[in-house]
Amino acid sequence: MKSVVIREPGVLTIESRPLPEPMAGEVRIKVQYASICGSDVHIWHGYNPFARYPRVIGHEFFGVIDMLGAGIDSKRLGDKVSVDPVVSCGHCYPCSVGRPNVCTELQVIGVHRDGGFSEYVCVPAVNAYSIPESIPDKLASLVEPFTIAANICAFVKPMHQDVALIYGAGPIGLTVIQVLKKVYGVSQVIVADRLTERLAIARDNGADVMLDNSEILLADQLRGIRPTLIIDAACHPSILAEAIGLASPAARIGLLGFSGEPSIITQQSITSKEISLFTSRLNSHRFPTVIDWLDRGLIEPEKLVTHYLPLSQVEKAMTIFENDPRGCCKVILSIGQ
Ligand code: NAI
Ligand code: MN
Ligand code: ZN
Repeated sequence: MKSVVIREPGVLTIESRPLPEPMAGEVRIKVQYASICGSDVHIWHGYNPFARYPRVIGHEFFGVIDMLGAGIDSKRLGDKVSVDPVVSCGHCYPCSVGRPNVCTELQVIGVHRDGGFSEYVCVPAVNAYSIPESIPDKLASLVEPFTIAANICAFVKPMHQDVALIYGAGPIGLTVIQVLKKVYGVSQVIVADRLTERLAIARDNGADVMLDNSEILLADQLRGIRPTLIIDAACHPSILAEAIGLASPAARIGLLGFSGEPSIITQQSITSKEISLFTSRLNSHRFPTVIDWLDRGLIEPEKLVTHYLPLSQVEKAMTIFENDPRGCCKVILSIGQ
């Protein structure tokens, strides 16, 4: 089988590898479609602190179960599935309180173990979620990025009367915009980005107000509007202090970033307005929720997709994805049909 392997930081190859065999509790998936995420590019360049090399990348993928490990119900053979990349131990403290995404032994498929940019991959059967016929195959890998939005929203609990401000109209900001508007019915969703093309795609994804903050401060553009819910999907460490300043008293702020640089804030700025800060990493069992949203047509994953390319062009696909944020958003790789 063909697999996209990062041999070491900077070295991407398409290798021929032997077909893997599922262990007990696992299923083998014949992968059909996979989508490119920023973290795939980070592993390629050596910027992901969790990655070990060589590594088959890819944590957003969809395919058909074609082989079962011991103990798996034979009914699962032939299932069309999307895979939750969060593999957890099931018994540590975070797992015991329903937070497997921060399991003390967390393994992310495509990061800590081999992923889905491959013709075949073995994963724990519990991570493979059946996809109903209503969801097009070529969009089914996009369940995962929407689980990022679902997870942060489960913390911040969006309400109809919220005035939401989203920093960043990349793939993650766009999934958040869609979920706020289309699932939670938030009345006003404002998005800030520095790229006009990204603001245009944010409008298409449902944002009500688009603000370009490349030159004019957001405070000057908001003219006294105080967001009650802010989500940082741009993730520069300077954003938190600005967000706190802009926020309404009693606002909730959701953070998604992994920067190692400090964000400088004061206790006074958050406590005087009694602001709630939430962070969110990956997802905790949100696949069923997002699959249900897709099945009901509530969210529109196609609005994120700008490119479809075959697996053989993965390096070109990742290069466009990285270097052309104005023209490229989500890229779907077709791997096998
Ligand atoms: P992206 O780089 O495609 O999008 C970021 C967007 O923010 C870009 O459009 C950029 O122009 C804009 N931006 C940058 N600085 C800005 C600023 N100061 N104000 C307004 N907009 C600004 O990235 P993507 O894939 O959408 O991911 C966004 C962030 O979310 C990344 O930092 C990533 O690490 C993080 N992330 C976190 C996850 C989690 O589970 N916590 C999961 C996936 C991504
Ligand atoms: Mn992703
Ligand atoms: Zn655990």
